Amino acid sequence: MLKVDYNMAETGVAVSEIEKLSAEAERCNNMLARGSGAGADFLGWVNLPSSITDGQLHDIQAAADRLRSVADLVIVIGIGGSYLGAKAVLEALSEPFGYLRHKRNAPHVVFAGQNISEDYLHNLLEAAREYSIGAIVISKSGTTTEPAIAFRLIRDEIEARYGKQSARERIIAVTDRARGALKSLSDTEGYRTFVIPDNVGGRYSVLTPVGLLPLAVAGTDIAALVAGAREMEAATAENIPFAKNPAAQYAAARNALYRKGYKVEILGSYEPSLQYIGEWWKQLYGESEGKGGRGIFPASVTLTADLHSMGQYIQEGERMLMETIISVAKPNSELRINADSENLDGLNFLSGKRLSDVNHMAEAGVLLAHCDGGVPNLRIVIDRVDAHSIGALLYFFERACGISGYMLGVNPFDQPGVEAYKKNMFALLDKPGYEEEGCRLRARLAGRTGE
Ligand code: PA5
Repeated sequence: MLKVDYNMAETGVAVSEIEKLSAEAERCNNMLARGSGAGADFLGWVNLPSSITDGQLHDIQAAADRLRSVADLVIVIGIGGSYLGAKAVLEALSEPFGYLRHKRNAPHVVFAGQNISEDYLHNLLEAAREYSIGAIVISKSGTTTEPAIAFRLIRDEIEARYGKQSARERIIAVTDRARGALKSLSDTEGYRTFVIPDNVGGRYSVLTPVGLLPLAVAGTDIAALVAGAREMEAATAENIPFAKNPAAQYAAARNALYRKGYKVEILGSYEPSLQYIGEWWKQLYGESEGKGGRGIFPASVTLTADLHSMGQYIQEGERMLMETIISVAKPNSELRINADSENLDGLNFLSGKRLSDVNHMAEAGVLLAHCDGGVPNLRIVIDRVDAHSIGALLYFFERACGISGYMLGVNPFDQPGVEAYKKNMFALLDKPGYEEEGCRLRARLAGRTGE
């Protein structure tokens, strides 16, 4: 079971000061369970793991299997919360060099709709011509521009190649129950749809079909993922005391540090497969907490790689950083360093050791060095990188984020700031209804750039 260790936060805040926040963290956790805090309309994720039925998992798996039977490349279209969860879990759990294998038993899963790059989509469509393709399009609102553009292009490609009728076997939409352009388009075209519940916001939706459908297509054991999350739901439930609730502990520790002036949290791991868990976490925490002039800025590193780039700053740069390491206790495979009679590389002191031993010593050495350099460290220890542990980790971070947001005094379930760029982009693109604003913005840009 996942554990939180905050003893090495001592360089920034005394353990006793973290534990002084235990009652506040417990209260905020209970607010999530009771729906008594801000954003209570978006708490559908709180009991999601325990409420997913075998029937729902079966439906998702059956739809995934049908798509797998017709497509050897599935393009998953979405952005933000409709993208990062599936991407993160896929990176964590799929065979990292699977793309090099000639024989595969699962389709390639690639992503689109998380940018508007002409080159990205062009290259994807070109490469896709060598495959039999399918698509999963995901948008809760059904109106987000980036995935809508990508879907239009990919749908055109699918219809051109297989015809409108057969496109129905190759396209699945995940969207709102009733609203939005994607829902009406899907109903008109006859696409299979899965629903994103109204009360689950995008960044908390990885355990809905938003995450589970693409993951099932990729061959992930979604039942094990949900089982891990379910276990964590029980471990962090209402009235679980602080001493036993890892989510409350993490929320308290990072808030205690924030209140001492540590305004940036770097999430790191010594397993490169967890790099995108960092990306998912950044969205979860950044969008949930960064508002009203408040919030810990979430950053991420992959180690030991980034010790050779960001390591210098972390060790000696401005002292506003805290660091949280996802520490993986056991690798899934075994590889040892051989003895070499010539020892030209001078590595014989490591002969017979497993790489994981060396990795753990790197982790321990960095922990001490960063603490000595004034960067308080938190550790989240998971047993191994598998579907069960990752399911638990996802739910742990969600629950801790809700608690932490309440401790910070914000509504962790809205994202008013995300709208600002959309309004400007629509105005500059002359979307009907935005003409006046478009003129104003163009004048501003002309003034600034001198055009
Ligand atoms: O967390 C969120 O709510 C956002 O990141 C959304 O997921 C993102 O903007 C995509 O929205 P939609 O699913 O409506 O296309």
